[in-house]
Amino acid sequence: MSSTQTILSASRLHKTYHLGRVEVPVLQDATIDVREGEWVAILGASGSGKSTLLHLLGDLDQPDAGDGQIVFDGRKLGEMSRSQRNAYRNRSVGFVFQFYHLLPELNVVENTLLPGLVGIGRLRYYQVIKSLRERATELLKDFGLGHRLKHRPRELSGGERQRVAIARALINQPRVLLADEPTGNLDEHTGAEILELIAAQHRSGLSIVMVTHDRSLAERADRVVELHDGRVVD
Ligand SMILES: Nc1ncnc2c1ncn2[C@@H]1O[C@H](COP(=O)(O)OP(=O)(O)O)[C@@H](O)[C@H]1O
Ligand SMILES: [Mg+2]
Repeated sequence: MSSTQTILSASRLHKTYHLGRVEVPVLQDATIDVREGEWVAILGASGSGKSTLLHLLGDLDQPDAGDGQIVFDGRKLGEMSRSQRNAYRNRSVGFVFQFYHLLPELNVVENTLLPGLVGIGRLRYYQVIKSLRERATELLKDFGLGHRLKHRPRELSGGERQRVAIARALINQPRVLLADEPTGNLDEHTGAEILELIAAQHRSGLSIVMVTHDRSLAERADRVVELHDGRVVD
């Protein structure tokens, strides 16, 4: 059954930051495996390296040299061409940040459809812009933002901003959603709404990796692993 296949895995990842002469070891042999359709929560204290690990999984940053590797759908990131890797980062995975990272000068629809425009030429732009706008609008309406389409991020509440960020993460129909403390900046009620939205994506088959420091949030996932001393433990 395809639902038991691994969609994304990372093995033996190491990451040490260098602050001048000071070394900050963060990941030491981190290994994780995500199956197709699975929702995995990575639980860890503040500073345990959750964001670092998620950034590596999303190819937003690179692990230290070594035998560590990340494999998506049977293909090693390290063996992909630059354009395949760009496609991985922009299309195969969708990323949701704790602090939304919306572009302030773009409205809600424009923020949402932006990943659909990354790396395409002018001709392709004219071919896709209409359907991208439609898909963005549809997603935003589904997320209860039909009355906010032309608003700028600063005119939205935190919960509304995170809904936009999730719509943006889904615009290219990724295979895996990577969510970094998606409710970490929200009040409890709003956070619960955002978690419901993520749960609904999971029910419709999306694979999800969510990092959090909150055990009660983590327990909504199919499986909880913990990041401790730079390693992922069950
Ligand atoms: N760019 C960086 N340079 C130096 N140290 C960093 C950098 N990013 C994170 N760190 C340090 O690495 C550790 C793990 O950070 P992070 O992955 O953000 O943890 P978490 O998301 O679990 O709070 C922390 O001690 C943090 O201060
Ligand atoms: Mg973090």
